[in-house]
Amino acid sequence: MKRFLWLLLLVLTTGSASAQTAPERYPLIPYPASLTPATGTFTITKATQLALSKESKRFAQEAEQLQLLLTNGVGAPLKTTKKAGASSIELRYDASITAPEGYKLTITPQQVTLAAREPAGMFRAVQTVRQLLPPTLEKAGKGATPLTLPAVQIEDQPAYAWRGMHLDVSRHFFDVAYLKKYMDLLALYKFNKLHLHLTDDQGWRLEIKKYPKLTEVGAWRTFNNQDSACIRKSKDNPDMALETKFLRQRNGQTEYGGFYTQDDMRGIIAYAAARHIEVIPEIDMPGHMMAAIRACPFLTCNGKNDWGKLFSTPICPCNETTYEFVENVLTEVAALFPSPYVHIGADEVEKTSWSTAACTELMQKEGIKDVNGLQSYFVRRVERFLQSKGKKMIGWDDMLEGGIDASATVMYWRSWVKDAPAKALHNGNPLIMTPVSTLYFDNLPDKNSVEKVYQLEVVPSDLDPTSARKAILGAQANLWTEQIPSENRADYMVMPRMTALAEVVWTNKNQYASYLSRLRQHYPRLALLNVHYRVPDLAGFSEESVFTDRTTLAVEKPLDQLILRYTTDGSTPTATSPVLPAALPITQPTTVKLVAFTPEGLRGDTYTIRYRQQPYATPVAAKAPASGLTATYFTGYFKKSALMQEAKANGSITVTSVQVPKQAEADQFGVQFRGYLDVPETGVYTFYLTCDDGGTLRLADRMVVDNDGLHSAIEKSGQVALSKGLHPIALDFVEGGGGYTLLLKYSKDGSEPQQVPASWLKH
Ligand code: ACM
Repeated sequence: MKRFLWLLLLVLTTGSASAQTAPERYPLIPYPASLTPATGTFTITKATQLALSKESKRFAQEAEQLQLLLTNGVGAPLKTTKKAGASSIELRYDASITAPEGYKLTITPQQVTLAAREPAGMFRAVQTVRQLLPPTLEKAGKGATPLTLPAVQIEDQPAYAWRGMHLDVSRHFFDVAYLKKYMDLLALYKFNKLHLHLTDDQGWRLEIKKYPKLTEVGAWRTFNNQDSACIRKSKDNPDMALETKFLRQRNGQTEYGGFYTQDDMRGIIAYAAARHIEVIPEIDMPGHMMAAIRACPFLTCNGKNDWGKLFSTPICPCNETTYEFVENVLTEVAALFPSPYVHIGADEVEKTSWSTAACTELMQKEGIKDVNGLQSYFVRRVERFLQSKGKKMIGWDDMLEGGIDASATVMYWRSWVKDAPAKALHNGNPLIMTPVSTLYFDNLPDKNSVEKVYQLEVVPSDLDPTSARKAILGAQANLWTEQIPSENRADYMVMPRMTALAEVVWTNKNQYASYLSRLRQHYPRLALLNVHYRVPDLAGFSEESVFTDRTTLAVEKPLDQLILRYTTDGSTPTATSPVLPAALPITQPTTVKLVAFTPEGLRGDTYTIRYRQQPYATPVAAKAPASGLTATYFTGYFKKSALMQEAKANGSITVTSVQVPKQAEADQFGVQFRGYLDVPETGVYTFYLTCDDGGTLRLADRMVVDNDGLHSAIEKSGQVALSKGLHPIALDFVEGGGGYTLLLKYSKDGSEPQQVPASWLKH
């Protein structure tokens, strides 16, 4: 090559590298604890050698993982050598790295060095290298060229020791192949715990040699109401259909089910171990046991196996036969799983059946006052048994109610029981955070859910930071599968939310803009891994839009590669529907349906944008209205906000912002906000109403946002044309149980949504 050409090339390549920002050049999730950018690149070719000294033999498995990845690009495994040299990739043992999962990664144009003390650290380093390589490497035969790594210096270690994902395989079953796919994603994002919810009312999923009926009977069911709901929804969304591979015909009926043999489970555990993931089994007891009771009816106090007021019939803590069963099951579980933990659930127990003579006798003998005491007796006894097997017990925070020993690890989920973490801390229990409000990934995702996960405070700010930081092991997202019947649906529910959690628990630094920019670069990799991720949200419109004369629909795409297709005849857009122009003129009332497609053919959510034409609402006259709104509150269970109209109010106060007043708070309640909105100028306004559970917003007697019904925190928006001045406002909110959220924002002319100012509220 001529010298000037060579120089030109050098200027071009280094120039383009330095023009990139760090998130573009190093699209790592989770972002490392310390990353120092450097210029230049290292190129992997067939001549590159993999250097493993004698000391590095401990990393043989991690070297194998790297080789598998590189083989996809180079066509063959790299040749190995004992000594690092020019153009080698070295896996180096470094005793100075103290964090068990810590590692250092140095990439220069001449050499790559991955250094760790522990194989787990080396594995995490390999995942970092993986994310720095072109995504095409994920697929054999894709032949990525050139295979370059950007120069960099990384020193990394996780913020939290517990970085978990959970999967409920009881409500709907997921086979070994899917668990492997799930674990591949955990590995890619540096998670280290897989919590398997193996048993529940709807299915027992683990072979227990001593009780073969648990799986022969307990792993199968005829369709239940959750299946029926999924089947109904599958008419509009094929991902809601049950996996046909888990259906069988028995006695003229279709049954749904499946389970893991102990051999299957050993395979799952080995696959996890190779990725430095620990599998934590959950055998939920004494409640959530209907599948076991179907197989072993002797487990109940009263011989019944049905639903109580809130939860299902539990097993009986007052009979010795129950403990014999529990100990036999847990003996097999403890022997099968190498994890130091066994999760015993202990959540949501309907204790009304615990009133037999045996229970009275046990309570007298043990000095137990009530049924919560019985639950506590059961939990303590099971914990002692697990300890005798060398295991630590985990349970959901419900178990705090009757009192537990300090040795139990508490998994916090009930966001609405705000004092549970403080109670656990005070009692000396280690804690794992899995709050429903943020980390229940079975809650439907919307455009805010990724950021909500990203902004999670693992250590709640109301706890003493020093002791809490010590007691809180980390966080985990849970995927309950009542409404998740398929693998594609499970992918959609976890991805990309789990990448936000990965960064929270590993990096624990708030750099959301950088994270979003890195996340954009992960979608092609996820597509190659056949992950049916949720296509990120489109922006720039409201689904309930209004116009006075004419307007245009101009949609903002979160990813350049998305293709937007639309219809105006009410039909759902398909892959052959017209492509949406950059600005679609709207001159008459119409409904636009819009779907984003990825180049690989994944389809995003369907948006239905309803355009209504309306004049600017005329303001009303009110003499010297006072500040604030009137908030009238009701205690009771309202499935829809209109049901408050027939209820008797508990009280009424004036509020200065749209927030749930303290006086209204109850397990189940509703609030009606009434008054005027004092709009400062004429225009078309967009209002955003986030509710958990439901709510509606009416302005100037027009329905603006209908976010009614019982659901998790979801934002909905709507528009209204208002003249300057006072307009009647009617905002209804209902809470059916659990944590609550109520948030009202507005925007005008495309401005960023912001809080409705207190000065606009009058009554
Ligand atoms: C739970 O969601 N019942 C732990």
